[in-house]
Order: sequence, then C-alpha cells, then structure tokens
Amino acid sequence: MPPLVLNHSSRPVVEVPLIRSCFRENCVHWTDTQGQRIEAHGAGLLQSPLDHRWYWYGESEKYANLWGSWPLNESARHERRAAVRQAAPGVNLYSAGSLEGPWRFEGRVLSQWMIRARLGQNSGPWIVERPKVIFCARTSQFVMWFHLDDSEYHFRRVGVATSSGPAGPFRFVHALQPDGLPSLDMSLFHDPGDGVGYFVRSVNNSYMGISRLSADMLNTTGIISTYSVLEGMAIFRLANGTYYMITSHLTGWDPNPLVLLRAAGSTLDNPLWVNMGNPTGHQTSFNSQPTFVVECRDVSGDAFFVYLADNWIHAGPRGLKDAGYIWLPFSFGDQSVSLPKKWGWSMRNPFANNAPSHGRTQGGGARNRSMRHVNTAGLAAGGVRVTEPSNSHGDSCV
Ligand code: GAL
Repeated sequence: MPPLVLNHSSRPVVEVPLIRSCFRENCVHWTDTQGQRIEAHGAGLLQSPLDHRWYWYGESEKYANLWGSWPLNESARHERRAAVRQAAPGVNLYSAGSLEGPWRFEGRVLSQWMIRARLGQNSGPWIVERPKVIFCARTSQFVMWFHLDDSEYHFRRVGVATSSGPAGPFRFVHALQPDGLPSLDMSLFHDPGDGVGYFVRSVNNSYMGISRLSADMLNTTGIISTYSVLEGMAIFRLANGTYYMITSHLTGWDPNPLVLLRAAGSTLDNPLWVNMGNPTGHQTSFNSQPTFVVECRDVSGDAFFVYLADNWIHAGPRGLKDAGYIWLPFSFGDQSVSLPKKWGWSMRNPFANNAPSHGRTQGGGARNRSMRHVNTAGLAAGGVRVTEPSNSHGDSCV
C-alpha cells in the first residue's frame, strides 16, 4: 500500500495512503516497513483491546506444493521434512496503528513444530490456512483458530492456539473436528452486538455449518445452522442487527462469483439467509476470494465495512507464490449492497473518487456521505426487515 502524493494546484501537497488492490499480474505488491512483501494470506484482522493496534494474521508465503518435488527415499524424505517444517506453512503476523498501515512484521506466530497432530503415520508438515484470532474476555486470552490439514486435504480439522498477548507466543491447544464433523475452509465471527463467538466452516465440503463457541472459545457447542455448500466465508453485522455473510463457491484457487447472504435476527441460530447475489457483478469477482470483513469508521466517524480478499493465482507470474490482496469497501445502496472495483481508495473517505481508472489518480474528491456508508433505512429484501441503524459499533481504522 504505497502512500500516494496528490498534488492539487490550489492546495498544498497532501499525502493520502491509498489502498491499491492487487487485481492482476502487474500489480504493485504490498510491502511491510522493511520493504519485504507482506505474506499474510487468508487473513484475519483484530484490533487488540489491550493496545488498540491492528493485528493482521495470515498464512505465510504460499507454496506450489507442501513437499516440493516428492523425495524418493526415506532419508531424503526425512531431510525434506525438516526443511519444510522450517520454511512453511505457518501464521505470520503484522501490526499497524491504523488499517492504512504501514505494517510492521511481528514474526511467525505459529510454526509447524508447534502443531501436535497425527494422521496415521503422518505427523506433518501440515497445511495451515485461514487463521482467525479473537479475544476471549472471560479468559483474557487471544484465541487463534485455523484450518489444519494434510497435503491431500483429508485430515479436515481445525487447530486452536492461545496467547496472553496479540503478538504471541501462541501455544497450541488442540487439533479437532468441531462438533465431530470434518472441517475445511473456516472463519470465526465475534458478534459486536452481544460478544458471542461463532465458528463457520465448510463441513466436509458438503454444506456450510455455524456453531457457537464455548465460553473459553476453545471449542464449539453444536451446529446451530446450516446452508448449502460455500467457502471463503466472512460474517459481519450492522449496528441495526442485520447479519451478512460474504462467501465464494468451491473452485480451489480459481476465483468465482461471490455470494452475499443477509439475514435479520438477534443471533445466528437458524438465520433466514437471503441470497443477494454477487456484489461485484463480475464473473471472477475481480480475481478475489473472501477471507474477512472489518468494520471501520472513516475520518468523519461514519461506519463502513471492508471486504478483505485474496487474489490467489492472478497476482503475478509465479501463480500462488505471488498471491496478493484485494481490499474494497462495501457500498450500501437503496435496495442493494455492492463491491465496486476501486483501483485506489482511502480509508479516510472510502467513497471519494480517488482513482477511477488504473494507474491514474485524481485529487481527493469531494466528501461523499451517501447511501454507500452503512445507511440502510428502508432496505428490505426477500422478507427481511431491516431498520435504520443506531450508531455503529465500528472502530476507527485511520
Ligand atoms: C480453496 C480454499 C483455500 C484453499 C484452497 C486449496 O477453495 O478457499 O482456502 O483451501 O482451496 O485448494
């Protein structure tokens, strides 16, 4: 996210950090404060209640294949195992004072050697995907959940780890199949309304299931709702109580049309989801797959929601190893919610017209507090009653 200088003839030079998503191969990859590529895919973000910094947890640099080329003999295999364990995959952490960055690398907070799991003779290395961290007020622990699998995706478990601080060290607690069900793509949702924690996942790639987390947030307490098979799910909730879930279909690393679901209700027990279709209106969702949604406030204190996604294989010539990030603000219209493609936008004023076309930027743009922010008065679809929100519970992101 390199900062951009906007030079207005009648105004002094203003530095506005723009979010420049990586939509295609010639994108500028995002770098940390050391100038290194940010490697934190399948991200989960958290603003720590302890220091109010933003923490970005994500998968370490992607690999073509967990083992590289398969070794022929046992000793080579043994060496290779050690090398793979050292390298990847794991969970990287970056932190920043604002969502605009700059992002500081905090290190590898979950590594292969911390994971205690076994599948027959297989004791790793494991696939580690889609880490999400929430703060459990009851235990004062930061609790990390991630998809834990073998290279063939047969293990189908989650890993759970805890730490007393956002930056670790994390301690592996257990590997499990929540509610006794095989689990693949997954996410956590910490309800800002009532503080309840939820786990959502693809159950055996057969359907999507939501469970409530136990009081210590280390386990689940039974499935409370199911929906047809989807993945890459991220749940968010407006201050008026309406739940949304942005998800994708199952096409591996290939992008596909997103699915936005919406439901009224006071909990996620059997929500009556209404399918609102693909908010990007684009067949491959601009090459993105969802991973998380962050609720923010802009400089004027207006609430908006940011779609965080991965561009897995169309962000550079090396495919998956060049995976990049797509971050876009949800735009709330009169009867619809959309995700317009934006080449450059600012967290301070997300709906200003900063960069309408690729490569070109234009000045700050008039402040545009419109229906695009979370202003859903009268919004109703498929029998879902949505009322005017009270003020949002979002955090300042800038
Ligand atoms: C995708 C999934 C990713 C990863 C990938 C492996 O469908 O969303 O998280 O598991 O498959 O092929």
